[in-house]
Amino acid sequence: MSLPAAVKIVEVGPRDGLQNEAVAVSVASRIALIKDLVAAGLKTVEAGSFVSPKWVPQMADTAAVLADLDLGGDVRYPVLVPNLQGLDAAEGAGAKDIAIFAAASESFSRRNINCSIAESLERFRPVAERARKNGLTLRGYVSCVLGCPYEGEIAPSAVARVARALHDLGCAEISLGDTIGTGTPAKAKAMIETVAAQVPMAQLAVHYHDTYGQALANILAALELGIAVIDSSVAGLGGCPYAKGASGNVATEDVVYMLNGMGIATGIDLDRLAEVGRGIVRELGRASASKTAQALSAKIGNN
Ligand code: HMG
Ligand code: MG
Repeated sequence: MSLPAAVKIVEVGPRDGLQNEAVAVSVASRIALIKDLVAAGLKTVEAGSFVSPKWVPQMADTAAVLADLDLGGDVRYPVLVPNLQGLDAAEGAGAKDIAIFAAASESFSRRNINCSIAESLERFRPVAERARKNGLTLRGYVSCVLGCPYEGEIAPSAVARVARALHDLGCAEISLGDTIGTGTPAKAKAMIETVAAQVPMAQLAVHYHDTYGQALANILAALELGIAVIDSSVAGLGGCPYAKGASGNVATEDVVYMLNGMGIATGIDLDRLAEVGRGIVRELGRASASKTAQALSAKIGNN
């Protein structure tokens, strides 16, 4: 077992979290959340999406969010882009990092982006080509890697096929999404091993939603395989608009607490992060989904 000495955390709360919250968050609050996360030590914060506002109204005005961020500095602010129209808008807003998003399940692909997997990959081709030509960094997501809300089990080979296709399109990082959080560690390990036969482990990230409380265990399995990029969401915000009932991403506070305990560096100040989480859940009028944040608030233990 060789664990990484340091892990990159990709904070997805301002995008994956807020895209599924019932309470619409103002542009000013979205900007404040992102800046507070950066102040807590996050170096990559997904800042929004250039998707149809009819499909995901919570992510409208992502250009206005980017307008207030320092897009030329060390901190990265990736945004989701589903097509060339989204790329036009993202580039117009000065984005330097974009993410395209596909699925390993045909049914989810249709519900999420209104096309088949093959059509989505063809749609992403010119996006990826132009992004690369213009020097943008490119990430690719695969959804439903450990289960689909419409199809149930998904074969690891189907995940590997889509991951490989995104890699071939030039994605520097491929994030494996357990969109509905149904995965368990042995299955997660087998899925990653199948994908890693097609895409180098060093280019893989895990993106686990926590519906069944398995995300940390599945992350540990990924770490043991050598994965060193973890997506998470402050306070465990969010879910997915096209996966009814699914919980948000694993909470960033919980991931940082686990990694601190394992001596794996993240560069994140846990107390400050927990404070950011308390602020955003107060604004949303909901409880934090982070066990660590709850324990820190109750001053349980001596951390
Ligand atoms: P469509 O209806 O097939 O697109 O949607 P279209 O090209 O036919 O256009 C229809 C309308 O949308 C037109 O407007 C376009 O202008 C507009 P109208 O003429 O009707 O007024 N439109 C756009 N507007 C703004 N920005 C754009 C854009 N493109 C078209 N980029 C489309 C296809 C992909 C646009 C749509 O299905 C969509 O926006 N889907 C959003 C999906 C989404 O954001 N899902 C959540 C993110 S993915 C996720 O959460 C999973 C992840 O976290 C990993 C995991 O957990 O698994 C990443
Ligand atoms: Mg997600």
